[in-house]
Amino acid sequence: TYEKLWLAGSFVLIVGFIVTVTYGSVGLGIDMIGEEADGVSPDEISSDERFSEPRVEQVGENEYEVYVVAMTFIFQPDPIEVPANSEVTFYVTSRDVIHGFEVPGTNINSMAIPGQVAELTVEFDEPGTYGVICNEYCGPQHHTMEGSLVVT
Ligand code: CUA
Repeated sequence: TYEKLWLAGSFVLIVGFIVTVTYGSVGLGIDMIGEEADGVSPDEISSDERFSEPRVEQVGENEYEVYVVAMTFIFQPDPIEVPANSEVTFYVTSRDVIHGFEVPGTNINSMAIPGQVAELTVEFDEPGTYGVICNEYCGPQHHTMEGSLVVT
C-alpha cells in the first residue's frame, strides 16, 4: 500500500509539473504575441476565409488588414504592400512549425504559431521598404526565411 501511495504521489507531482510547464509556455506565448484572434489549424488554412488567400485587404478609408501565413521557409503574401498614413492590422499564423514575424525598424515582432492567430496593429506614417524576417529557428533554411514590406 505504501508503494501504491508513493506511486500515486509521484504521478500527481508529474502531472503537476506538466500542467505548470504547459501553462507557463502558453502564458509566455500570449505575452509575446499580444492579442490573439480566433485560431486556425494548419489543416483548415486552405478553407479559412481569412487565410486561404494571404493578402492585404482595405477595410476603411485608411485602414487595412493583412493576413499573413508563415511556412517553411517563406511568408505569404510577399511583398506586403500598404499605403503610407494608414493603420494596418496584421493577422499572423503558421501552416507548419513555429516561425517568427519580425519587421526590423518597426515594433512588429510576433511569433507565428500553428493553430493560433496573432494580431498586431501598427500605423505607417511614411513610405519605406522594410525586410520581414523569421526570428524563431524553424529548420535548416531558417536563415533564408525573409520577405518584404513596402509602404508606398
Ligand atoms: Cu521560419 Cu525560422
